[in-house]
Amino acid sequence: MLHMVNDISKIALFVVLRCIWCRLATANPRTYIGSGKVAEIKSAIHAFDAETVIFDDELSPGQLRNLEKAFGGDVRVCDRTALILDIFNQRAATREAALQVSLAQMEYQLPRLTRMWTHLERQAGGQVKGMGEKQIEVDKRILRTQIGALKKEIESVRKHRKQYRNRRTAVPVPVVSLVGYTNAGKSTLLNRLTGADVLAEDKLFATLDPTTRRVQMKNGKEFLLSDTVGFIQKLPTTLVAAFRATLEEISESSLLVHVVDISHPLAEQQIEAVDKVLSELDASSIPMLMVWNKVDKANDPEKIIMEAKRNDVVCISALTGEGLEEFCNAVQERLKDMMVWVEALIPFDKGELLSTIHRVGMVEKTVYAENGTLVRAYVPLRFARLLTPMRQICMS
Ligand code: GTP
Repeated sequence: MLHMVNDISKIALFVVLRCIWCRLATANPRTYIGSGKVAEIKSAIHAFDAETVIFDDELSPGQLRNLEKAFGGDVRVCDRTALILDIFNQRAATREAALQVSLAQMEYQLPRLTRMWTHLERQAGGQVKGMGEKQIEVDKRILRTQIGALKKEIESVRKHRKQYRNRRTAVPVPVVSLVGYTNAGKSTLLNRLTGADVLAEDKLFATLDPTTRRVQMKNGKEFLLSDTVGFIQKLPTTLVAAFRATLEEISESSLLVHVVDISHPLAEQQIEAVDKVLSELDASSIPMLMVWNKVDKANDPEKIIMEAKRNDVVCISALTGEGLEEFCNAVQERLKDMMVWVEALIPFDKGELLSTIHRVGMVEKTVYAENGTLVRAYVPLRFARLLTPMRQICMS
């Protein structure tokens, strides 16, 4: 699909003038679309006085250049990747996200710099042959140096974050990550459950940074809930790499919660797109709980709730709070499946261990004995290891 738009100032202010669809058996290596379509778009550009043409797919640097030449004038051709990068650039809130977007943008620009060539030749009236080429070489060198510096900076920010995460994982609270298509309602759910003030806007990719909050349930149990970047169809691979930060959270989670906007007409395709990205990240083996959100907005909520029950899916409205208790119970149930059974005698002077077991585990029974408290419980594997000496005492 192609959008013809008027660039008022920023991407967010584009006005869509016309959408053109075309079915392609194979992409034209020169112009992506066939010559008939190029002519059709060109006349539409004149008719609508369009400034930018957006292609809903990735174009090669050559295709981009040839299309701009074919459309003529100052018409800007932008592909799907450039558009997504532009939106990401506007949404990046932390230093790390901003650095990652800049890096992805520079890597995207590097092979496309040749567009400057014709521009410079034109400026010089074709007098100075080769001037453009020299300039491109200089620009490419500058860009490569900047890319190198950015990579170093990102590495140091990542080291910092890793140290923070190591400190966090020392606490045996399970981490649950929210994944889902962009705009599915992940941030709204996180805010609802934790009272956190994470961005929840009706905008694509409002969340670019991993945000983790502690969720305290009514029964005193808790887990860490992590918000992640929204997925989209045909996510450019450079962006998957750029968002390692939030994606690392996913691979280290005990449980994934796949949030779906069930009121969306393309919900099924969005689920498939998310599953595809998860398998690209090798995260398909992590246990997953499916959640259908925005049930308040769905056409036939009763039918959806019935269908959800049949499919072992939890129905919620992150906006109204409907179904959130059921959601927390389902999370707790899934986490229990990942815990191990322990029987341990906790000495009286290790009271803090006992309260941690109550907080992160599922206690079946406690008995006060002469030399400590005997506990029978399901606890996270990592935590069970800490209890090993006490389990031995218990058994002897
Ligand atoms: P990304 O950051 O792009 O990944 O989006 P997200 O999945 O975090 O979505 P977000 O929480 O920002 O919500 C997107 C929009 O959907 C916001 O306008 C929310 O108010 C709205 N929304 C979220 N949950 C619900 C819901 O249960 N019902 C309704 N009606 N709207 C909702």
